[in-house]
Amino acid sequence: MNILILGGGGREHAYAFSLVRSPSVHKVYVCPGNGGMKEICTCIPFTSNSELVSFSKSNVDLAVVGSSEFIARGTVDSLLIAGIPVLGPAADAGRIETSKAYATAFMVRHRIPSPLSQIVSNLKEAEEFIRQNQWVRVVKCDRFSFGSGVAITQNDDETLAAVKQFLKAHGPPLILQERLTGMECSYSILTDGNQWVSFSTSRDYKHAIDHEEGPTTGGMGSVSPCPGIVTDIEQRIRECVVEPTVSGLAADKLSYKGFLSLQLMLTTQGPRVVEFNARLGDPETQSILARFRGDLASLLMDCAQGRLDSTGSEVAFGKHRAVSVVLARKGYPNEESCDPKIENIDTIKNSTAFFSGADWLASEKRWRFKTFPKLDLEAILGCNPEFLLYL
Ligand code: GLY
Repeated sequence: MNILILGGGGREHAYAFSLVRSPSVHKVYVCPGNGGMKEICTCIPFTSNSELVSFSKSNVDLAVVGSSEFIARGTVDSLLIAGIPVLGPAADAGRIETSKAYATAFMVRHRIPSPLSQIVSNLKEAEEFIRQNQWVRVVKCDRFSFGSGVAITQNDDETLAAVKQFLKAHGPPLILQERLTGMECSYSILTDGNQWVSFSTSRDYKHAIDHEEGPTTGGMGSVSPCPGIVTDIEQRIRECVVEPTVSGLAADKLSYKGFLSLQLMLTTQGPRVVEFNARLGDPETQSILARFRGDLASLLMDCAQGRLDSTGSEVAFGKHRAVSVVLARKGYPNEESCDPKIENIDTIKNSTAFFSGADWLASEKRWRFKTFPKLDLEAILGCNPEFLLYL
């Protein structure tokens, strides 16, 4: 089969790397992809949903969502309407990630363990609620906001200041939450809306500098499985969190076919869902897929066609741990001005290099970090200016 992967970062490079090794795969396309993956797949630019649909009608048997941008902009819906199997939820089910207010209401409705939360739609409501509930120490905006939509506060004054700032910058609604403490862990599943299979635990490390210092990023590295998760915690995650989530999607009549990552805080009272991602994380995917054993393409196709139960037993992961480390330019993610050389990629042993935001300069025969105009960054799909080395 021919597969189209949607996204352009290290995660999509890792998908391509695994999918070209699937016995059932003939050709892999990535939209938009990046220069680092051109040797193993064909990158096609994104112009519009309709052009992507017409390309897919003649060339693609299965589309796989890497970046959730493609859920939010309706690409998944357009492909599904055209009859192309897609591994990734349509926009209505994808709200579980793209709208934090929707996700909060979903968790309350289906009794999924989560932080105490309140959705507010204006300043007066927020002020009143914060005055009466001293536990509010997290403020979130509803929509995806490139890392600038969550504030963790120390006292009510800071909470109110964050509310005012977010209402001005992002608009209502906002989500007010308690701050949980514990160990962070991500639990990923593949579900066709009825059946689900585990895609193991993982976690990312978000600070730009060692020892949790520097600005937060999408992730400077990841590990899978997540250290410190013993069998009975995993069992509890499955029973208390995954089961009600999958049955909640079905009860709400949402057709969800794809990966779902539950971002958890493992508190002394048990696992709590902090948020959902309607996809595998980046750079978590790079670690998770390194451990996957089996024909990934067939499994994803079965899931997209609602036949997960026929292959569920074949999902297996190696017992080893996998680690991914992001090599970025000095100053990442805010102030990148240098142009360091990327050399000797071919000599890396026992590990794989995945690229994100790096390009091959054919004329100079060298890799180069892509320079993104500051304002355009938000418009570029999954392409953070980082170079990913998978160890
Ligand atoms: N690593 C975090 C994410 O993919 O959202």
